[in-house]
Amino acid sequence: MDIHRIGVYTSGGDAPGMNACVRAVVRAAVAHDLEVIGIRRGYAGMIDGAFVEMDGRSVSNIVQQGGTILKSARSERFRTPEGRALAAENLKKVGIDALVGIGGDGTFRGAAVFFEEHGIPIVGCPGTIDNDLFGTDETIGYDTALNTAVENIDKIRDTADAHNRVFLVEVMGRDSGFIALNCAISGGAELVLIPEMFTEMDDIKERILSLMTAQSRSSIVVVAEGEDQGGAHQIELALRADDAFSKIDLRVCILGHTQRGGSPSARDRVLASRLGASAVEALLDGHTSVMVGVVNHDIKMTPLRNVWSRKKNINYELLKLTQLLS
Ligand code: F6P
Repeated sequence: MDIHRIGVYTSGGDAPGMNACVRAVVRAAVAHDLEVIGIRRGYAGMIDGAFVEMDGRSVSNIVQQGGTILKSARSERFRTPEGRALAAENLKKVGIDALVGIGGDGTFRGAAVFFEEHGIPIVGCPGTIDNDLFGTDETIGYDTALNTAVENIDKIRDTADAHNRVFLVEVMGRDSGFIALNCAISGGAELVLIPEMFTEMDDIKERILSLMTAQSRSSIVVVAEGEDQGGAHQIELALRADDAFSKIDLRVCILGHTQRGGSPSARDRVLASRLGASAVEALLDGHTSVMVGVVNHDIKMTPLRNVWSRKKNINYELLKLTQLLS
């Protein structure tokens, strides 16, 4: 099938570097004599017909910006066959004959069904701070989010140390502990709790108590939001309910959406630029329903279905390392 006009959209939780990726898609497409339409607010915009023509200049000065100039959304209507049919009709009306979608697993689930139902070729670029997508060593936004988390942990350490406090620092990661584990190592945290391992409260209590009594200094416990007790506030409740903790000065800090914002790191900009350009080339080479990723430094394509059905594992050696170094 000949491709003349592609649509590009960002969807799901935004991630720093999405703009760099949009820029790469647009500029690579223009270099290949394709026309580009930006779709605002992801699948919601496809359904509403929120389209904007883009050229090389429309993406000037965005490589360094966080967020996404195309806006993002999570669309309930796109989950229905009727919503998807309306989206396909709108795309055909404006002559879009292929798509590049930038987002996470929800984005790709939608993309795969959409291709099966309506046959519009589609290539995905992995954009999520969680880094939880199979088929790429890193996702766009992960490096920046990780560095934001580490910067904040460094700041928390100063005040924690001044008061000999225990801080439970919650970082993002709904289903995975990539940010948590790596910022725990980088920030010298005493403990890390992640969704990939069972949180045994008695062990956690014992560990914190022994750290605090033996060393009488601060302790930082990094908690991934998706860990199985339900996050930092739940852990705090469990600790406060125990008399042994009555003399421990405990605080919680939720880093939350600060991790999603900010100017992307150089690493994220390079990754996003490579992936955006590769997605356009993949479409021109006839690929569809795949995600482009970087594995061992090389561009690799993975069928969309594998991206969410196969689990990307954390590095368990890093988990042992946090224990060894704390
Ligand atoms: O998927 C990325 C992510 O940042 C998760 O880590 C987090 O659980 C979720 O998005 C938050 O989404 P929202 O901004 O819609 O609340």
